[in-house]
Amino acid sequence: MILVVGANGMLGRDLMTLLCDRARGVDIDDIDITDLQSTERVLRALHPSVVVNCAAYTDVDGCEAHAERAMQVNGEGVAHLAMATREIGARLVQISTDYVFDGGKGSPYLEDDPPHPLSVYGESKLAGEMNAAFNPEHLIVRTQWLYGLHGKNFVETMLRLAEEKDELSVVDDQIGSPTWTVDLARAIVALIDKGCRGVYHAANAEFCSWNGFAKAIFEEAGLKVAVRPMTTDQLNRPARRPLYSTLDCGKLERDAGFRPQPWRDALKSYLKLRNHAG
Ligand SMILES: NC(=O)c1ccc[n+]([C@@H]2O[C@H](COP(=O)([O-])OP(=O)(O)OC[C@H]3O[C@@H](n4cnc5c(N)ncnc54)[C@H](OP(=O)(O)O)[C@@H]3O)[C@@H](O)[C@H]2O)c1
Repeated sequence: MILVVGANGMLGRDLMTLLCDRARGVDIDDIDITDLQSTERVLRALHPSVVVNCAAYTDVDGCEAHAERAMQVNGEGVAHLAMATREIGARLVQISTDYVFDGGKGSPYLEDDPPHPLSVYGESKLAGEMNAAFNPEHLIVRTQWLYGLHGKNFVETMLRLAEEKDELSVVDDQIGSPTWTVDLARAIVALIDKGCRGVYHAANAEFCSWNGFAKAIFEEAGLKVAVRPMTTDQLNRPARRPLYSTLDCGKLERDAGFRPQPWRDALKSYLKLRNHAG
């Protein structure tokens, strides 16, 4: 059995749907990963063969103001899961982020490129990656720019803003690959089923800026909103973000035989599904 920790989150919900009867899910009401005893108790009772950790403190700007909490959840929490999975002989799958990189490389990041986080969130997630290694049977899946049906995300923010405004300014100097949580869930399952270990990158193919993504969302949704350019400096958010953090996903394709679809095709599928879901 595969145990999804953080099963009520945006990625966790889609992973649960995809895994169906292969999985059980727990979230903050059942397990607190910042508490070693709580973590050990749940894992000993359920005895999964694989644990996928989707639980995290994901508010990137909030992490700057609450650095200690960020480290507890994203760093120590993973150490607890690594120790508890090792004890029961289970594999640990840890979800990580492009924010472990500084974005200065200028070409897509490979798995063994040196990390250099710019934010507390990125530092805490990097600590989580290192702590996952307490269990030698670990898999780290770095991803980026997630959106899905079951959480706050950029697509939903843009569609909400379109109801109020006919003109928006969106940053055009951060480049990445918008990634649908359903496609990420498929990549994670492919990696698990192939028995892959170590670090992998998984994101939808091709890249754009947030500004380009916003334009695509409005075009695909048939909405008339003018999208103006602005810089990251002008937006002035508390956490620094990497400017170019596209992830090279070639290793995922080579080892797990999974090639994520281009982000624009994923966006179309998401909007169609969203309309059906009402
Ligand atoms: N979202 C993105 O754009 C993005 C990009 C790159 C990587 N990632 C990574 O992808 C993974 C999934 O992200 P997501 O956006 O799906 O996350 P999410 O929607 O924020 O879900 C995280 C879940 O974990 C739970 N949780 C928080 N603290 C916990 C704790 N101490 N013990 C147990 N559960 C706890 C949360 O509960 P509460 O809601 O009650 O706090 C929530 O249900 C994370 O590892 C994230 O770092 C995300």
